[in-house]
Amino acid sequence: MEIIIQPSPEAACRYVAGRIASLLAAKPAAVLGLATGSTPVGVYRELIHLHQQGEADFSHAAAFNLDEYLGLPPEHPASYHHFMQENLFQHVNFNPGRTFIPSGLASDVPAACADYEAKIRAYHGIDLQILGIGSDGHIGFNEPSSSLSSRTRLKTLTPRTREDNARFFSSLEEVPHHVLTMGVGTIMEAREIFLLAFGTGKADAIAATVEGPVTANVPASVLQFHQTAKIVIDEAAASKLQRTDYYRWVFDHKPDWQR
Ligand code: GLP
Repeated sequence: MEIIIQPSPEAACRYVAGRIASLLAAKPAAVLGLATGSTPVGVYRELIHLHQQGEADFSHAAAFNLDEYLGLPPEHPASYHHFMQENLFQHVNFNPGRTFIPSGLASDVPAACADYEAKIRAYHGIDLQILGIGSDGHIGFNEPSSSLSSRTRLKTLTPRTREDNARFFSSLEEVPHHVLTMGVGTIMEAREIFLLAFGTGKADAIAATVEGPVTANVPASVLQFHQTAKIVIDEAAASKLQRTDYYRWVFDHKPDWQR
């Protein structure tokens, strides 16, 4: 696990967007794993900028999103389909036939989840996965107690996550209880993972993820088992970590070939 502490969310988002642009340059048909929530918006803004400068071409790439609310149609303003259109897809040149998000309208949920897994396999897996983190340590919508080897499936949101996400809806009552999400096991198969977190509201979750025990009670802590997971955070999200001096030293003294 590599802990990368950046001076601001903007710097962190520039860093991750730069890594995505480098991947696309080296592998134009790269498969990206995309996330929603406020945290990755800055990464998408930067990718749009790089695309406009001719430095990020998505025409051969593919994208799989982590999750969607069950029952929300794609045009619902709080759906993750809508979020991705607004924040990234309509501004860059993905082939729409190569972008995938679990369907909130699936009538046969287990079949839709199995299809999603099969589709990821058909694309030979995810090269680079972006993650945010819930204040309770969830990744995707894998809430505490999720199996650490779970696959795409139906999950029930905790009251805390429904409250955290109520800001995207007109009221708390409108936030669905059920979601479809890639599993923790699905996420762990991504070849490279960047988890982003900003602000003091994420400091406890980041401390538990990075320096706590691996536990299904903090699903993100399983990233300790991932060979290339990078935790990209601002100073506020890093504020409850014990070994920040060490993490900073490691990052500042990387050999050139590792940068
Ligand atoms: C939702 C998403 C997660 C995201 C989390 C944090 O629960 N399913 O993928 O990481 O929100 O969101 P934010 O970045 O807005 O704090």
